[in-house]
Amino acid sequence: APIQPPDLSKCGPATNLNTGQQLDYNCCPPLTNRIIDYQLPKPAVMRFRPAAHLVTREYIAKYNKAVELMKALPADDPRNYTQQANIHCAYCNGAYDQVGFQDLDIQVHNCWLFFPFHRWYLYFYERILGKLIGDPTFGLPFWNWDNPKGMTIPPIFNDTKAAIYDEKRNQNHLTSIIDLGYNGKDSGNTPLQTVANNLNIMYSEMIRNVKVIEDFMGQPYRAGDAVNPGPGTSERGSHTAVHVWGGDPRQPSGENLGNFYSAGRDSLFYSHHVNVDRMWKIWRELRGTKPKDFNDKDWLNASFLFYDENAQLVRVKVSDTLSHEKMGYVFQQVDIPWLKSRP
Ligand code: C2O
Repeated sequence: APIQPPDLSKCGPATNLNTGQQLDYNCCPPLTNRIIDYQLPKPAVMRFRPAAHLVTREYIAKYNKAVELMKALPADDPRNYTQQANIHCAYCNGAYDQVGFQDLDIQVHNCWLFFPFHRWYLYFYERILGKLIGDPTFGLPFWNWDNPKGMTIPPIFNDTKAAIYDEKRNQNHLTSIIDLGYNGKDSGNTPLQTVANNLNIMYSEMIRNVKVIEDFMGQPYRAGDAVNPGPGTSERGSHTAVHVWGGDPRQPSGENLGNFYSAGRDSLFYSHHVNVDRMWKIWRELRGTKPKDFNDKDWLNASFLFYDENAQLVRVKVSDTLSHEKMGYVFQQVDIPWLKSRP
């Protein structure tokens, strides 16, 4: 059977997975008793997700304004900035038990729910921001770390006065080339070598190391299964490397980006994940005539709960995430140089 959405009324303490300690921080969402089955609205206009290193001044101002307004919402409004960050904590740090299996947590990482869960998360996050500034075309920017031109933290995130700024980042990495193979130690490679390695890593996780769908998407995870059956290439590789590389070693536990419970407090997290989401799209396109999606009801019918842009609690299904166009957004087209970087 598919993973069921959590029972929010039973949300409990969360665990810092980096230390194994219980968090003395409550990341449970506000309660409500009305849940609606979400119907994807027919998009009237497409939202445009730009590359973060290519955006205009106008866009930067708009995005910061939206985040500012989100931070200014009442603390108990589920659309508030901190509440949005808490979504990640609740779904990823063991605050929810699986319905019907009190001994089993819900965990959306390290399994086949990784891409669809985060797609929904970004979807509502983006719609909330768009609503706050009255712009139905607003799309989140992607951190284009798979392209040499985007391999540093996008400069818009380094403006210390901007709403999207976060001081809890690795201060040695603010303007350096990201290492998509990062595991906690700087490699000592030259920037040129790092770029070449990154392109090889991208080629491997998007093409060379992927035969069956599980290789990329992650392993099956069904109701009653233990957490962490296994991540796909992209989640395990570039995705995790970016988190660890961005987290602040001055903090006790890699906060913010480097820890599940805190990652969503850094706006950079959403741009990182928009690029992860873009990788899913590109990967599906690269499949050509090979199957792109699991044809398994336990995947298609797995569901989650989110608050939408109207603060309405909605139940969403994996099967509604298969087309980003149907979800109403497109990505800016940029070069994909790793396509030719066969190691
Ligand atoms: Cu839900 Cu990048 O983690």
